[in-house]
Amino acid sequence: MSTDVPGPAAESFTLLAQSASSTASHTDVLFIAMLLICGLMAIALAVLICWFSFRYREGAHADRTHPPSHANGLEAAWTIAPMLVFIGIFTWAAHDYAEGRRVPPEALPVYVVAKQWMWRLQHGNGRQEINELHVPLDRPVVLVLASQDVIHSFFVPAFRMKQDVMPGRYTRLWFTANKLGEYRILCSEYCGSQHSAMLGRVIVMREAEYARWLNSGPMPAGEPTPAQLGEGLYKRLACASCHEAPSSVHAPPLEGLYGKAVLLSDGTRVLADEDYLRESIVAPKQKTVAGQPSIMPSYQGQLSEEELQNLVAYLRSVSSQPATAAVSRSNAS
Ligand code: CUA
Repeated sequence: MSTDVPGPAAESFTLLAQSASSTASHTDVLFIAMLLICGLMAIALAVLICWFSFRYREGAHADRTHPPSHANGLEAAWTIAPMLVFIGIFTWAAHDYAEGRRVPPEALPVYVVAKQWMWRLQHGNGRQEINELHVPLDRPVVLVLASQDVIHSFFVPAFRMKQDVMPGRYTRLWFTANKLGEYRILCSEYCGSQHSAMLGRVIVMREAEYARWLNSGPMPAGEPTPAQLGEGLYKRLACASCHEAPSSVHAPPLEGLYGKAVLLSDGTRVLADEDYLRESIVAPKQKTVAGQPSIMPSYQGQLSEEELQNLVAYLRSVSSQPATAAVSRSNAS
């Protein structure tokens, strides 16, 4: 089968929507298996009902002399067999779900900000796009999603993925696109009058084409990356005056923090991932670091979601951890 970009002519009727990610093939196999199991059961039950209705209809000459009162073997079988089938389906689905949540450390990060009524996406090198997402073929990509206003939901039917995009926190979604072409992005959470127009498309390109695309277009070379913009903010907000060595405040150092486990004053440990860093900037009282006075001021309302993402990108860049390592492992040591 050709792997060229399918035009509208290639869209024909199929039972399942087109599938273009590794997750989609797993989800489809599970879906078809459940459909087959349920379908076969429904057919078997319907046939038995019809057969018994016919066999024991009024006036039929069926043998009714020794009706069985119970059949232990049969009862045990119809209890145990469905139970095993359900446990099997649960294990299978839970495995696929867990795989879908475990972001590979080498995944390319793309930052997404949803707002009424558009998607703004930014790649690691600073290249931005609106309502379009260019991704390379067969490479894992992780989206770090934030909303500037209400709850949206990032939905790509061809990838069988959907993730709510929340104000006030980051959510993540990863996928490996395995088929060239263009696929729809929808918003699947009602978010106001233009909700249904909040559309976009994913463009899956060959690796080399993607590399060319990434370094061309509206972002001229030399334009600052999110991490560089974040560094500017870090300086402008004078974060170093508390967080770096000569400070008398001795606030926790931020270099190398991303991806590490942090001991909190309530004795629990959290991973310093994107969401933790963001929360610590806008709501520092939510999780206070053990042994530290809670004196960090909140930057709630002073920074836009874009600025927060840039700041978090900067903090990640001064850490040795690969991007989104925090999500993929639980190194709470
Ligand atoms: Cu955004 Cu619906």
